[in-house]
Amino acid sequence: MSVDDSPSATERRSAIQKRHEQAANEVLPEHRALYIGGEWVQSASGQTFETRDPTTGDALASVQAGMATDIDRAVDAAWNAYDSVYSDYSTAERQAMLSEIADRVEAKSEAFAKLESLDNGKPITEARIDISLVVDHFRYFAGVARAHEGETVETDDSRVVQTHKEPYGVVGQIIPWNFPLLMAAWKLGPALAAGNTVVIKPAEETPLSILKLMEEVGDVVPDGVVNVVTGFGEDAGAPLASHKEIRKVAFTGSTAIGSEVMKNAAEHITDITLELGGKSPLVVFPDADLEQAVQTTITAIFFNTGECCCAGSRLFVHEDIQDEFLSRLADAAADLELNDPLLDSTDLGPKVTEEQVENTMSYIETARESDATFLTGGDQPDDPALADGCFVTPTLIDEIDHNNEAVQEEIFGPVQEVFTWSDYDEMMEMANNVDYGLAAGVLTESIDNANRAARDIEAGNIWVNTYNDFPAGQPFGGYKQSGIGRETAQEAVEHYTQTKTVNFSLS
Ligand code: NAI
Ligand code: MG
Repeated sequence: MSVDDSPSATERRSAIQKRHEQAANEVLPEHRALYIGGEWVQSASGQTFETRDPTTGDALASVQAGMATDIDRAVDAAWNAYDSVYSDYSTAERQAMLSEIADRVEAKSEAFAKLESLDNGKPITEARIDISLVVDHFRYFAGVARAHEGETVETDDSRVVQTHKEPYGVVGQIIPWNFPLLMAAWKLGPALAAGNTVVIKPAEETPLSILKLMEEVGDVVPDGVVNVVTGFGEDAGAPLASHKEIRKVAFTGSTAIGSEVMKNAAEHITDITLELGGKSPLVVFPDADLEQAVQTTITAIFFNTGECCCAGSRLFVHEDIQDEFLSRLADAAADLELNDPLLDSTDLGPKVTEEQVENTMSYIETARESDATFLTGGDQPDDPALADGCFVTPTLIDEIDHNNEAVQEEIFGPVQEVFTWSDYDEMMEMANNVDYGLAAGVLTESIDNANRAARDIEAGNIWVNTYNDFPAGQPFGGYKQSGIGRETAQEAVEHYTQTKTVNFSLS
């Protein structure tokens, strides 16, 4: 690849510009307004903000900056829809609605994938995976809507005790930017299956795909059942979490803001589900299939450019295979293609924003100052064709203290720290020695090793000889400061209901 500003780099740069302009013309949602009570409306303040394309640095679209008064309006609309329409929806009707949403997304899946790629910067091949999972999750929750049952409780012959799983009414959902539509689907699916109406706030970095979703399903979802308020965290997210008439809040994002959301929800004793940060260990045993283990490690850390809450960002390699494994891994990482995310050949796109690049680079600097060794990466690419974008090279850091903040904190970029182990117990103690507990990977050919490590790791999700695999039905969520509650499974529907007990006297 040429590294000077040659004509070919200039040509590639303008080809990227052109490809993005054309894609934006094809797939941007027509409406960039708030979606409240089934109508596209302006924010009360009239203020707007721009979402940018992190590949070109250009503004992609201008959307409404919703604030507390808009949240109030949306919550009112959601209660109206609950009281007048949705609370009467049978489970069969909820199922049909969720199935139809899945079908509509599937019919436009390439357009949705392109839109995610434009707004977030994720490689189109990975955006297609997102969208297929969106479809899968809506279909899964369509099924779960019908398998939702209360109980009869045995006491004695003097009474009959029954439980009903009732919806909360109106729930609030706050979405991050790393998997914009998929995280919305993870939350909308169970909330709607359980019979709730929703006010949802997408991340300010990536508000477009949920607007497009509502354009596509506006005639399927009764007015006011799903309301979308775009806006910033403090202005729109905080009033949603602290709203007196919201009965449940679900949030995915940073642990710091998760704690804020929890405090805000506490004001009115609002139920919460939190899916927060991670610093997940990936443990390689000496008997692992080396080639497969290298590929799984690449997926674990570089999928979605490392912007994954469950990224396998701390690698623990057994000393017997360390030299061979790390040399193959560094070669594979260096071979990854950083390029325009709209190209099928691209492995890593840009990070979502310039702010996120600075965040990642500051952790890389911290590691560098500690005299860590860089096996590969640690900078921004010098390809001038990518100069407009928020790119960071795939980075592997060795010989770093496990207490370093670059190791302890979530970087959320294409950066993995490497540790070598020989004693299992010492390794496991280190693997668990972080505040997070979202996920982990175990790479081994031995079922005993796999079982032992899976039980010893303090995390909600353990992948054995695979990573970042998210079939609907598999519960997902964190231990420790990685969160509260589980998503993507039948259990998630429980989180969107409250139990009502009815005791009939037989005397
Ligand atoms: P963030 O936690 O600020 O944003 C996530 C969502 O929360 C967005 O919709 C945002 O508007 C909203 N939000 C922000 N402040 C809020 C508040 N006071 N009340 C209610 N909602 C609020 O995350 P940010 O700033 O975008 O990224 C910072 C770091 O967070 C990342 O570097 C990464 O480490 C982590 N993160 C983790 C994610 C995950 O999947 N667990 C997703 C996104 C970020
Ligand atoms: Mg933020």
